[in-house]
Amino acid sequence: MMHDSVPQHPVLVDQVAAAGQSHIFNFYASLSCTHQQHLDAQVAAVDWELITKLIRDVVLKPEPFNLPDKIEPAPYFPHTPSDAATHDLYSRARRRGITLLREGKIAAFVVAGGQGTRLGWPGPKGTFPATPIGKKPLFQCFVEYIRAMEARHHTTIPFYIMTSAINHAATVDFFKQNHYFSMSESQLMFFSQDMLPAIGFDGKVLLESPSSMALSPNGHGGSLLALQKSGALSDMRRRGVTQISYFQVDNPIVRCVDPLFIGLHDLHAADMSSKMLPKAFGKEKLGNFCLVDGKVRVIEYSDLPEELAEAREPGGLLKFRAGSIALHVISRSFVEQLNAHGFALPYHRAEKKVPHIDLDTGALANPPKANAVKMETFVFDALPLAQNSIIYETDRLDEFAPIKNAEGVDSPASAADIITRRNCQWLDEAGIAIPRRADGTPDAMIELGASFAIYPEDVFDKYSRVPTITPGAKLHLE
Ligand code: UD1
Repeated sequence: MMHDSVPQHPVLVDQVAAAGQSHIFNFYASLSCTHQQHLDAQVAAVDWELITKLIRDVVLKPEPFNLPDKIEPAPYFPHTPSDAATHDLYSRARRRGITLLREGKIAAFVVAGGQGTRLGWPGPKGTFPATPIGKKPLFQCFVEYIRAMEARHHTTIPFYIMTSAINHAATVDFFKQNHYFSMSESQLMFFSQDMLPAIGFDGKVLLESPSSMALSPNGHGGSLLALQKSGALSDMRRRGVTQISYFQVDNPIVRCVDPLFIGLHDLHAADMSSKMLPKAFGKEKLGNFCLVDGKVRVIEYSDLPEELAEAREPGGLLKFRAGSIALHVISRSFVEQLNAHGFALPYHRAEKKVPHIDLDTGALANPPKANAVKMETFVFDALPLAQNSIIYETDRLDEFAPIKNAEGVDSPASAADIITRRNCQWLDEAGIAIPRRADGTPDAMIELGASFAIYPEDVFDKYSRVPTITPGAKLHLE
């Protein structure tokens, strides 16, 4: 049977032709109906006007990163209040955050659409067994944290999960199979971000097979577009949600919703706020919170010149010490504004090695070096568009145990170590003896579920439930 040589959808064919990408249909006539439909669906999901613009502005005319002339460190609220006024502010902020939670105005939002290639885990990253003893998947850690906050504050916290085409079905299945970790299905919403094709240096969309473009997710900034396109923002409006607590999928001890942080954001009428960590050393691989023309901006570690990254204040502290851990509170109305006149975030260029097929023979080529441009948006590019934006310092041990690599820095092993050290500190503070090695490190592995403790003071209340901890013990409390 003769197959069509292009899709039976003239508008699509015209759009692709206008974008100079008709080679996408080179193999169309030889494809089965199913494969034709697959390619049709991919083509229909792409915004070809946007692609044309990006090829012109991002792929063919790469702009070097321009460091602004005047960069200053961004101010932030310290983790521990330094004076009575700040102490008072934090008490009010915490109360405000709790009120918003109780009124159902806060949503939790995890961005989980990334490819997670560095970790080498075959499934969605959120399914990775992350905790030291219980081996709880990252998604379970988040749900349990949210449920513990709900129980504490007698409220419901809707949880939005952004996936992408590469992991959407597997993510939804995983939650289903695990009975949503006992969270009500009605408070969960899964939606996908957009994908963008990789573009060869000649401006042509690459095909990974005769029936598929080489697609990848459009960056975590795409979450702000996806919230709108998926109907998640409308869902939030319907539920009365006004603030979105945004976090990444890679951190098992993240405080998915934090009343103090939410309250500080709200009391300052901020559009988008951020948590920061003091960098451990100048070139630590964290984005840097800076102030440019009075606006907060994140300058990636790779873009901040060494003399600034290493600069010190007279007292010896790093001048640019505020590192981004990609935790934000974003007001729903700000996300609506960002989408009001087309999507507002810029696209960044990343040169990558992208396997692709030859357009004549269909043979697959694995390029030895970068051959294509992938385009991504970053959520922190919304910060300079905010009218108001505050930054709050958090504590590394308290909430940053990222799992990004299979081994070494930011790995499952380093996260397990941070979790154990944090839990030992909490137990220590409650007066519970921790066996220690000669170098002072805990000689035990300790996991505390969110139902047992989410703050150090929770351990005081449950003191009697903690058994004596013997050297080398593995203790898991729920
Ligand atoms: C990121 C930040 C860095 C920050 C660090 C803290 C960037 C460019 N860098 O680095 O400033 O200091 O985290 O841990 O963001 N994601 C999507 N869709 C995408 C791409 C990513 O949902 O298209 C999600 C991932 O699933 C993950 C998060 O965004 O949850 C982070 O993505 P990743 O690319 O791994 O950023 P990092 O290099 O870890």
